[in-house]
Amino acid sequence: MDKKKLMKATWPIHQKVENMPFPKQMFQGKITKKTYHTFIYNEYCCINELEKIGKEKNLFDGLEDVPFATRILNDVSDIEEKSWKREKLESTKEYIDYINSEIKNDDMKIMAHIYVRHCAAMAGGQMIKTKVPGKATMFDFPCDTKITRDRIRDKVCDSVINEVAKCFEFAGKTFEDMEKHID
Ligand code: HEM
Repeated sequence: MDKKKLMKATWPIHQKVENMPFPKQMFQGKITKKTYHTFIYNEYCCINELEKIGKEKNLFDGLEDVPFATRILNDVSDIEEKSWKREKLESTKEYIDYINSEIKNDDMKIMAHIYVRHCAAMAGGQMIKTKVPGKATMFDFPCDTKITRDRIRDKVCDSVINEVAKCFEFAGKTFEDMEKHID
């Protein structure tokens, strides 16, 4: 789908989610290592599940540089202290359940989620990677992220614009859960 059209349709919800307390604090470099650990562990769980489904359906064909769950898990391990538990948030359980039970059979809907999750890391992620704890290797995509975002967008069709919005809503739920974990 055309970038302008897609961003015009999703910018209001992007703004709403971007301005929630958790991402705002993250952007200001105020998140502790422990809070960030919980956040990226949950990002890992969601994105790993999505990539597993996407790979089964060959949705990453031609987009081999896009999956990044392994790097997220490396970042989790890298900043982790022995006494810390890996806690799955309610919103994470809900997301994993949703993609498996509601949209798994719909390639285009899965692609809508790949667009939101992966383009988020390739766009805003590049702006926050210097402001979060640890090496943040998850944002180091081995490609030109602008060109790759164009390629991902090309695989998203107009009919799934509501699903794109739904994925933003799920990201908002994660941020809401994370508000309870801010130290
Ligand atoms: C700290 C919070 C965030 C900041 C500062 C931020 C910043 C940005 C910026 C500046 C762009 C425009 C990039 C461009 O024009 O090329 C963008 C695009 C985008 N962001 Fe965010 N963002 C944030 C959070 C999020 C979240 C939570 C999501 C969803 C999970 C998200 C998903 C996207 C998507 C899908 C695009 C469109 C990329 C494209 O189509 O090329 N962003 N973001």
